[in-house]
Amino acid sequence: NTEKKALFTIFGGTGDLAKRKLYPSLYRLYKKGYLKKQFAVIGTARREWTDDFYREIVIDSIRDITDSPEHALKFASHFYYQSHNVTDVNHYDTLKKLSNKLDEEYQLNGNRLFYLAMSPNFFGIISQNLKDRDLITTCGFNRLIIEKPFGHDFESALKLNNQIRASFEENQIYRIDHYLGKEMVQNISAVRFGNYIIESMWNSRYIDNIQITLSESLGVEERGGYYDTSGALRDMLQNHILQIISLLAMEPPTRLEDKEIRTEKIKALRAVRLFEPNEVTGHMVRGQYGPSLDDSSENLNGYREEINVAPDSQTETFVAGKILIDNFRWMDVPFYFRTGKRLAKKGTQIDIEFKNVPLNLFDNNDEPLPANILTIYIQPTEGFSLELNTKKIGLGLETETLKLEHKHSAETTANSPEAYEKLILDCLNGDSTNFTHWDEVATSWKFVDVIREHWDNETVNFPNYASGSMGPTASEQLLITDGFKWHWCP
Ligand code: BG6
Repeated sequence: NTEKKALFTIFGGTGDLAKRKLYPSLYRLYKKGYLKKQFAVIGTARREWTDDFYREIVIDSIRDITDSPEHALKFASHFYYQSHNVTDVNHYDTLKKLSNKLDEEYQLNGNRLFYLAMSPNFFGIISQNLKDRDLITTCGFNRLIIEKPFGHDFESALKLNNQIRASFEENQIYRIDHYLGKEMVQNISAVRFGNYIIESMWNSRYIDNIQITLSESLGVEERGGYYDTSGALRDMLQNHILQIISLLAMEPPTRLEDKEIRTEKIKALRAVRLFEPNEVTGHMVRGQYGPSLDDSSENLNGYREEINVAPDSQTETFVAGKILIDNFRWMDVPFYFRTGKRLAKKGTQIDIEFKNVPLNLFDNNDEPLPANILTIYIQPTEGFSLELNTKKIGLGLETETLKLEHKHSAETTANSPEAYEKLILDCLNGDSTNFTHWDEVATSWKFVDVIREHWDNETVNFPNYASGSMGPTASEQLLITDGFKWHWCP
């Protein structure tokens, strides 16, 4: 593997994301030889840490995946800590000195990757100071990776984008949506564009509806403070779900390259029908978890009892909806989605329901044949299945539904690259295919804002689903009204 040379500066270097995802991902790239000798990492945060202490933290974060203690030590020797207050301009001078020193020491050719893993309130000020205080090099590449949330509505996202764009060009900005780094989300394009039998039927003539479920069994845990100001709509629909929909709905790109794919994704997102305020209720369902009904469950409290959550919170922890895409390919094909916390089971999957044959010719013809379903299992199981109607063994001509299934083995799944690992490598390669462009962010917020505004003007009777269920009954009703039902019922 070709060695990538870069200086990583991580803002929020003491944080949870850095420890859980970034350091392990950098280590995996190190193990695979993408990072070798010519790289260095500066971790910054407010608190005062020494390099030694920081390196211990790094080693601790990769404990489960290290080859040997010596290897971990060698990796960690590339890490440096710099206490940094993002609002203090002088601190950027110190950071610049250290950056230049490491650049020379490790011969990094001016390649810099700035990772903003902290509150978005600071994204603007950091990017401005990086430019004003000359941390951006003139040789080499300068790339900015930004974590979510990117604004909380269109206006705030636009403001944030303008702030960042004052210092970085769009092609230097890498907005993370970690779902785009998931193996099976990337597989959507492979299964569509690698198989004519699939792609030729991938339209409203053959597909009845598409169902996307992102189900989580955990509650908000210790993230109540953030979550109570966000809710499932902003936390999951604006980014992950609309991104998945754009990949499912887009036209085939001419090449699998960032510009081409992006153009098609944006076109698909622009075709998503915006609701009028009076259409929100008919198309969208929201929910909030209450205590579980099952006494044996470990955690019985409802959302309103969680830490840092208002006792009368109106925040939704569940959202389901029906999205329509007004273009030639998808006219009148509902894209249903649902996502929520404290649901019956953790699992993300996409079910594509094909249209029925026009006539049931078989002995069991008192009912229509079951629909063919193609399922893409995204996580924790990874794989595909296809349900087909076949002849039942016997003298007559009755049918039964068979499920052809391939699920990656637990070992394959465990060894497949982590989303963050892939995304960091993409960024090092200057490949922004699996990051979200500003136009995608803007279009998604415009869709979400209509719903949010409508919901914010109405009080709801929460909680309306029990922990451990699959959400409020209105989510079932959403499909029943159209003559469908959720295919996945854990
Ligand atoms: C994050 C949300 O973006 O995605 C979390 O903020 C959510 O609330 C998480 O739990 C889900 O990601 P994954 O990879 O566990 O499905």
